[in-house]
Parts: sequence; C-alpha cells; structure tokens
Amino acid sequence: MKTRITEMLGITYPVIQGGMQYVSYPELAAAVSNAGGLGTINATLYKNGEEFRQAVRQMKSLTDKPFCINMSLLPDVKVGDEIRYYIHICGMEGVKVIETAGTKPDALTSLIHDAGILHIHKVPAARYALSAEKCGADAVTAVGYECGGHPGMDGIGTMVLVNEAARSLRIPVIAGGGIVDGRGIGAALALGAEAVIMGTRFLASAEAPVSDNHKKWLLDATERSTVLIQKSIHNMMRAADNQAARECLRLEEEGASLKELMPVISGERGRDAYATGWVDSGIFPVGTGCSLIKEIKPVKDIMQELMQELEETVGRLGQISNAV
Ligand SMILES: Cc1cc2nc3c(=O)[nH]c(=O)nc-3n(C[C@H](O)[C@H](O)[C@H](O)COP(=O)(O)O)c2cc1C
Repeated sequence: MKTRITEMLGITYPVIQGGMQYVSYPELAAAVSNAGGLGTINATLYKNGEEFRQAVRQMKSLTDKPFCINMSLLPDVKVGDEIRYYIHICGMEGVKVIETAGTKPDALTSLIHDAGILHIHKVPAARYALSAEKCGADAVTAVGYECGGHPGMDGIGTMVLVNEAARSLRIPVIAGGGIVDGRGIGAALALGAEAVIMGTRFLASAEAPVSDNHKKWLLDATERSTVLIQKSIHNMMRAADNQAARECLRLEEEGASLKELMPVISGERGRDAYATGWVDSGIFPVGTGCSLIKEIKPVKDIMQELMQELEETVGRLGQISNAV
C-alpha cells in the first residue's frame, strides 16, 4: 500500500502503533515494525538519557525496520536540556521519526529536524493540527474522543476531527481514536487520512506487557466499558471503568486537587497493576474500540487480519459504487 505516510516513513502498511506509557517497550514496538507497520517506544519510560539510549539500541537489535519515539510532554512545560539530550540521542542512533504529544511543538520541530529526524505531532483538535503544520511538523496524528489515553478537552470525535484536519492541512494526517480493525482503517482512509494510529488494538496483543487479566478485561469489554476521568484537572483521560477510575471520579466530584488525586491516578499504580493482574487497582487507559476486539493475537497476525479486512472493506465499497 502506498500513501504519503508509507512513503515518508518507509513502511509497508499505513499502521502506526501508538506510544503507550508502561506498554510501549521495544518488544511490542519491534513486533509492529517487523510486521510492516511503525512501532513506537515511549521516551518517558526511561529514567535518564543513558537508559533511553540502551532502549533505542535494544530496538535496533530487534528490528532493522523504521520505528518511532513518542515524547509526551506536559502542557506548558518549556523545552529543557533533558528533551534536547533525548533528541540528540535519537539523532545519533539514527531514529527515523519522533512523535510529540501534549504541548505545542514550536521549539521542538526545528530541534528534531536539525537532528535529521521527521517530526509528527499528536493533536485532539483540527486547530492544533493547523498550528503544528505552521510550526513545520511533517505530519500530524489526529486522535479523536474515542481514543484510549488523552482525547483533549473539546470532545471531538474521530469522524469530524480527521475529516476536518485532512481538508485543512497540506501535510499528511494520521487518524486515531476507536480504530481497531480493517473497517476502521478503510473509514479513516476514506476521510482523507494517510495512515492510522492504534493503541487499544495493540494493547490486546500477545506481545503487550500487561497481565492476562487486563487482556481478559479487554475481551469482555462492551461499548460502555470506558469512562472519562481527570476532567476536573483539565487533563481528561479515557480509561477502563474499574474501581480506580470510579474512585478518581468520586474524588473529582468532591473537588479534589491534583495532589489529592495523585495516589489514585499515578502512572506507577497503573504499571504495578499490569504486573500483579489486579485490574481494579490502577488506572487503565483504554479506547472505546475495545468492544470490537474479540481475540488476543500476536502482532503479526493482527496486522494480517487488519490488511485482509481492509481489502474486503475496499472491495465492498467498490461493489457499492459499481452498482450506483
Ligand atoms: C494504555 C495506553 C497508554 C497510552 N499512553 C500514551 C502516552 O504515554 N503518550 C501518548 O502520546 N499517547 C498515549 N496513549 C494514546 C495512544 O498513543 C494513541 O494515540 C491512542 O491509543 C489511539 O486511540 P485508540 O486507543 O482508540 O487506538 C495511550 C493509549 C493507551 C491505550
């Protein structure tokens, strides 16, 4: 398959694995890159530059295909020496692409380009996509309300967001939020996207480093199994409707501050839950697409299934248009 994104990134299929905190380690990311998509590791998983460099090297030992580094930044945080150092490491190690998320990219784009790296910026609304284009980003990931993780505060669904971004931008758009199968990929391409980003589907893969209980939760989930938390602290997140999320919502209703919420929402608590298998004990970011996932499979098989279903979808649309 050829789109501007597959050409730009040198990948076989227009499928990018979303960076996921405490999930996107080299093993999962390399499986996606080796299957023809673009795997992503999260820079924020590593304590310092040296640990991060080792992870990038591990990634290079697991795949000779392109891969991406996700750098999730807190809103309104200035670009500091640490981020510059991480970008420098990416440049030295020959990383092809960096995806930033969570803050305006202005100062970052030129730093990333100067290191010889492509820059993708993730946004939850078309106006932020336009500002990323103005900053010189090479592409945007436009991720709608259905997504696992942070959908932004405006609550714009993938259908409108991707359509609007693809109409307004000259740079290519990567669609995300609720896309878990070949039908979803077909819909995203029809809206004008040139690739998709998928988190929740790859969370439900054999390679994802979360407990079997978390994977079972994903298989049992329905379209009503997720909730939106952290709205009161302007950092909305879609997560599994479990005990931790309900505790967070209760505290928010009581007007809790970020400091008071931290014991419940801390990423470390979620990470520990992935290891112990106590799904209720930590926040578990998940998108609404979980209701469509029926089987945990190795990434290679997921990718094959996605492409087969995409082909069937395109064929079905072709038949409809022939009949008109
Ligand atoms: C468990 C989990 C953790 C995530 N962590 C991050 C993160 O640290 N940084 C980030 O930019 N996006 C994060 N995301 C969002 C994904 O990168 C991606 O944009 C999103 O999952 C796409 O929507 P989908 O879940 O409907 O496929 C996370 C998503 C999930 C499911």
